[in-house]
This record gives sequence, structure tokens and C-alpha cells, in this order.
Amino acid sequence: MKLLDGKKLAEIVKQEIKEEVDRLVAANHKRPNLAAVLVGNDGASETYVQHKVRACKEVGFDSTLIRLPETTTEESLLAQIDRLNKSTMIDGFIVQLPLPKHIDVEKVTQAIKPGKDVDGFHPVNVGRMAQGLPCYLPATPYGILQLLERNGIETSGKDCVVLGRSNIVGTPISILLSRNQYPGNCTVTLCHSRTKNLEKYTKRADILIVALGQPEFVTAKMVKKGAVVVDVGITRIEDDSKRTGYRLAGDVKYDEVAPKCSFITPVPGGVGPMTVVSLLLNTLKAANKEINYPD
Ligand code: GUN
Repeated sequence: MKLLDGKKLAEIVKQEIKEEVDRLVAANHKRPNLAAVLVGNDGASETYVQHKVRACKEVGFDSTLIRLPETTTEESLLAQIDRLNKSTMIDGFIVQLPLPKHIDVEKVTQAIKPGKDVDGFHPVNVGRMAQGLPCYLPATPYGILQLLERNGIETSGKDCVVLGRSNIVGTPISILLSRNQYPGNCTVTLCHSRTKNLEKYTKRADILIVALGQPEFVTAKMVKKGAVVVDVGITRIEDDSKRTGYRLAGDVKYDEVAPKCSFITPVPGGVGPMTVVSLLLNTLKAANKEINYPD
């Protein structure tokens, strides 16, 4: 079994990004600038945004964190987005999800200018992705593609099973891995809460991607020997023996599944760090105006 070590790969890619930023700055370009909007005080979101801000610093990007209270109205969030859309300082920005219940996430997603939508969540970017056109790929699927590619994992003709059909992970990775390119050319099956006899599908998978948010859901008997397993789940579980009061669990029962795998991502240190790096790559593309979007 080999580890798909996202932490290590993220450090390598960050170094590559930093070298590019150094070249840009030496050529008198401004530093790429990523803004993140954080509404409310969700503990996990707070951590994720801190990781993003820290990663910006590591590669020499500027970053702008905009904190808004839990009680922020939809109208005032949309006004903030409008300011970011128009700002000449900000190359790309994200609105951290989930949002408080009184805010319509679709309205917010669609208010972000596609050219600055470095999360790749706007329907224009999702549509471009589905058609294989230049776009910002959503960060988690983009991170998974890099983990597969940079570990030299063969994907062509493989049976890939994705568990979970979220807009952020399951649906886009199923589209990306079925495209005629590398990594891709898989025969993809997308399983979800209504799938009958899930194990029938998972046991067939050469590549199993799990994005359910259900800790330790996938057990050894569900996995084929020699499979590549990518665990996107990361859930806080109360644990009084930890200083923080919690431990992090993936969607896969790592200890029993890992010995059966050819490759597996650890949690933490697998997909998570690659998600952050993907956001940096998208921001770099935005700063370099690599993708052409009509105004
Ligand atoms: N919440 C969980 N994942 C993500 C992500 O990739 N982007 C944003 N904006 N929020 C998230």
C-alpha cells in the first residue's frame, strides 16, 4: 500500500507557485490577491479559511479576509460580493460555505463574477467544466486529479465509483474522471443515498472516491483488493483525550481498508491540503488572466 500524501504534494506545488510569484513580482506584476468572505462563526469553516489565508502567505500572495457576523443579511452579503467583483485589487474570491440558513446560497454563488469565481461554483464555470472548456475547476476535485496525476496512477479504462453527489465534490469529480483526458477516461458510477446495494458497486471499483461526510462509513469488505481509495470526508468527532476536544475522521475506516489498497489518502493530510493548493492555482490563473471570460 502506498500513501497518497497530500501534505507532501501540497508542499511541492506551493513551492512551484512561489517560484512563479517571485518571477511575476520580479517582472513588476502585483502579487496575486485572494479574498475570502467568512459569514458567522462555524468552527470548521474558521479553520478552513485560516488554512487558505496561511497558504496565501506561504506562496507570496496577498490575501484579504472579510469577516461578517452570523446576522448579516443576504442583501449586505450581495453588496459585499458586488464590491469584490468590481475591485481591481482582488484577483479572485470565495465565500466560505456553509452560509447561515437565512441566506440563499444559490443567489450568492450566482452573484460572483465567473472570472473571479476561483471556487468554480458559478453555473458558468460548472457548465464550462462539463463541456471541457477552460475554467476554474472546483478545488476539491482539482486536488484529487493532481493526487492521481502526480502519483502516476493509471485511470484510463478503470472502473471508478464515486460515493456522494454534492455540487462541490461528487458530481464534478464524476464528470472530470469520465472526460477523454488524463486523469480521466474512467467508467464512472455515481452512487448516492438512494443507491440500492451500495457494496455491489464499491466492490467493483478500481478507484473509489468517497465524499459522504459519514465518518468511517467504508469498511474493508466494501473494497476490492488493490483499489485506489480517495477519502474526501473529514468530520470532527468528540474525543476528550485530545487537547482540542475532538479528533478528525475520514469517511473510510482507514486501519482496516488501507492494507487492501494499492493507494489510499490519509485523513488528515490527504485531499485537504490539495484542496487549498488548488485554490491557489486558480487564483494564480485569475491573476495571470489565463482564462478568457466575457465581462
Ligand atoms: N466549504 C467546504 N468546501 C468548500 C469549498 O471548497 N469552498 C467554499 N467556499 N466553501 C467550502
